[in-house]
Amino acid sequence: MNIDFSNKTYLVTGGASGIGAATVRYLATHGGNAVIADLNREAGEALAAEFPQHVRFHPTDVTELDQLIAACDLAAESFGGLDGAVNSAGLGSLGTTTDMPLEEWHKVINIDLHGVFYACRASIPHLRKRGGGSIVNVASLSGVRADHGFAAYNAAKAAVINYTRTLALDHGGDNIRATAVCPGFIETPLTEIPGSIDAVKDAWLNAIALGRGGSAEEVANLIVFLLSPAASYITGTEVVIDGGMGSSNNQPNLPRIFSSM
Ligand SMILES: NC(=O)c1ccc[n+]([C@@H]2O[C@H](COP(=O)([O-])OP(=O)(O)OC[C@H]3O[C@@H](n4cnc5c(N)ncnc54)[C@H](O)[C@@H]3O)[C@@H](O)[C@H]2O)c1
Repeated sequence: MNIDFSNKTYLVTGGASGIGAATVRYLATHGGNAVIADLNREAGEALAAEFPQHVRFHPTDVTELDQLIAACDLAAESFGGLDGAVNSAGLGSLGTTTDMPLEEWHKVINIDLHGVFYACRASIPHLRKRGGGSIVNVASLSGVRADHGFAAYNAAKAAVINYTRTLALDHGGDNIRATAVCPGFIETPLTEIPGSIDAVKDAWLNAIALGRGGSAEEVANLIVFLLSPAASYITGTEVVIDGGMGSSNNQPNLPRIFSSM
């Protein structure tokens, strides 16, 4: 896939790693510009240094609106404006309603939901100045369906999907499109299981129709399509990218069980 992003500039939260970093690489290698807004200074600066003409790093905590406003201002100063935002900063956290520390609930909601809202709030005034733009919020399959033990993550990601719909309604008149992408199991630092618990990974892979995890680049391909004019009539919706994981109703795999008897 080859989309030309010449003279286009994007804010990429979480752009120092994983899906965000793959998106930054795509943009920078296809003529576009990006400002990485991320907590991880070392990785963010290293990625920006690979593309000195096209990428800047702005140290940013997405739970702080002022820092996101500064990141958008940096994009406008460095590259002459802003054409969109990819809001990928996020994290997961295991915990049920009764066993999760309250501060953990607030942390996940703050980063995964408030962080997306703040990034949209900071970027929309810039997009209006450009006559429109495209916002892609990175939600999750975990916002479409529930997981065991991910109470805060499931709540935050579901909220991001519906928030994206309201963004599209409220700002369609500004020629701003808003979409959410919902990845399933993508092999990034986020899904590295400490101590490599093979049983956990096997269970995950068994649940995926394609039998493998996705790559950050495969999700970036979807994101850049949604940013581009090729997606000019797509807004207010979520797109699942999960190798078929969400298509199952979790019945046992009877053919596989019978064939192994
Ligand atoms: N990897 C998956 O399987 C998967 C599946 C579904 C959804 N997602 C979502 O995709 C997004 C990207 O995940 P990834 O897999 O690339 O993970 P990742 O850990 O590789 O990247 C996440 C980035 O977000 C940054 N970040 C975290 N908290 C931040 C904060 N407060 N302020 C600024 N930056 C912050 C991290 O420093 C990191 O660079 C997340 O929102 C995640 O929930 C990932």
